[in-house]
Amino acid sequence: MLQAKKVSIIGAGNVGATVCYWLAMRKSCREIVMIDLVEGLAKGKALDISQATSPEGSHTQISASSNYEAIKKSDVVVITAGIPRKPGMSRDDLLLINAKIIVQIVEEVKKNAPDAIIITVTNPLDATTYTALKAGGYPSNQVVGMAGILDSSRMETLISGKLGFGYGQVTASVMGGHGDDMVPLPRYSSVNGVALHDLLTDLEIEDIIEKTRHGGAEIVSYMNTSAYYAPANGTVKMIEAILGDKQAIFPCATLLNGEYGYEDTVNGVPVILGANGVEKIVELPLNLAEQQLFAKSVESVNRLLGTLRENNFFK
Ligand code: LAC
Repeated sequence: MLQAKKVSIIGAGNVGATVCYWLAMRKSCREIVMIDLVEGLAKGKALDISQATSPEGSHTQISASSNYEAIKKSDVVVITAGIPRKPGMSRDDLLLINAKIIVQIVEEVKKNAPDAIIITVTNPLDATTYTALKAGGYPSNQVVGMAGILDSSRMETLISGKLGFGYGQVTASVMGGHGDDMVPLPRYSSVNGVALHDLLTDLEIEDIIEKTRHGGAEIVSYMNTSAYYAPANGTVKMIEAILGDKQAIFPCATLLNGEYGYEDTVNGVPVILGANGVEKIVELPLNLAEQQLFAKSVESVNRLLGTLRENNFFK
């Protein structure tokens, strides 16, 4: 894919820089701008990544700035800025501080790239996605959160690890918020079309579900900060679907307007991604147990939104 498109990444930390690197190596767009308050760090990473493009035959031009004017004419803006988790912290512990950062960023993005599709990555993901939507007064298609692809890819890796075969052939589906109440869906998971339930026992599947839910925390416990390779990969999948108008189905965090029976809240559901961002929400027929798990996840996100309302982030 060699496209005359521009992507801006707000936050040149581990996730932001890895998104930049992967986009450039895959030749997914013509221009990438990284914005960071710590301009030197962003500039250094931009230079380093740009010096890897030539051997790959990549035409992607990469620059960095602390000035938001550099994001003008972006097709996609990715927001990764914010503080990451430390061991023992939940994603929710980051709420107020990261929501504040999101509001400041959205103000700049709205001013400089009003038509860009925004992908939020900052945690707690569902709450920051809702905050970005409200702070910018955006239509619901224009802001979409990255989490479901990451959670699904973790589940896929756990499935092939447990089976000992099918590596790279697993498709798993995880709905729900990007938190401890996420909703892995074994019924919608398969290995090259073979249903998961025909390959693993209920107990084995339960173990995979638990490990999927805590996949992010496990990585934090080992390296004192959040994961970034798999999160960046999920983000790049979304960017490419939008830039290429792929009309592809991915689980993403999006504003629900009656879908699945919920209003005015963000949660992870399968959506169709294309040039307009979220083109459509796909409503899976959930069984009772799945509906109950999803309800719990919606409740958890709504609790965070309640805290943000109490702190006057929105009405
Ligand atoms: C994770 C963080 C990025 O799940 O939320 O790894």
